[in-house]
Amino acid sequence: MARARLVAGNWKMHGSRASNRALLDALLKELPVQGVESAVCVPFPYLAQAGERLTGTALHLGAQNVSEHAQGAYTGEVSAAMLAELGCRYVIVGHSERRQLYGEGDAQVAAKFAAVQKAGMTPILCVGETLAEREAGKTEAVVGRQLEAVRFESGVLAYEPVWAIGTGRNASAEQAQEVHSFLRQRVPAQTTILYGGSVKPQNAAAIFAMPDVDGGLIGGASLVAKDFLDIVKAART
Ligand code: 13P
Repeated sequence: MARARLVAGNWKMHGSRASNRALLDALLKELPVQGVESAVCVPFPYLAQAGERLTGTALHLGAQNVSEHAQGAYTGEVSAAMLAELGCRYVIVGHSERRQLYGEGDAQVAAKFAAVQKAGMTPILCVGETLAEREAGKTEAVVGRQLEAVRFESGVLAYEPVWAIGTGRNASAEQAQEVHSFLRQRVPAQTTILYGGSVKPQNAAAIFAMPDVDGGLIGGASLVAKDFLDIVKAART
């Protein structure tokens, strides 16, 4: 069976009720795009709003983070069961911004990954090296370690080189393919592997044409309807 192609938007900490409505309306005018799954991972406070708008549509709902705990005295945290109840299909875990800015380590990421699956959703596991790690020749060691920590049996994997995120400096198609091919050998054959990091309408088609790249995880460009739609279209086989 062919691997599913997927383009997911990671809105990060952006949005408002009014701008969300306008963006989702614009996306839904043109979705679905034949042969490509699409999703938006929105901030927690807007999951209910987006979930209502997306019910019965081809655009799937996702969250950007989750607690590793099932429930309890964890002020400010959000459980996987809550996300499932709100209609999330996907949850991003291990994003480099969580790892770097909020100190999430491999063990915590693994616990979050398991919590998402236990609640019946699909984790999108992010792995990626920093520029210093790449220059030291440690890319494979780093992404290999991050992947191994979760004991990946199913889910979506996203290669997001830290130096390419929000920098306008995307990995070249060849650089992405090299790491994707390394990752491909370490996950089940049907696994969808996304590339993320400064994906734009201008570079998406070349990156998605690589044999081991099955779509993208899109930050900044996912906030602009036309850009996100053009990127989804670029993922058609
Ligand atoms: P940018 O597309 O803004 O570089 O962000 C990528 C990313 O972090 C997606 O999760």
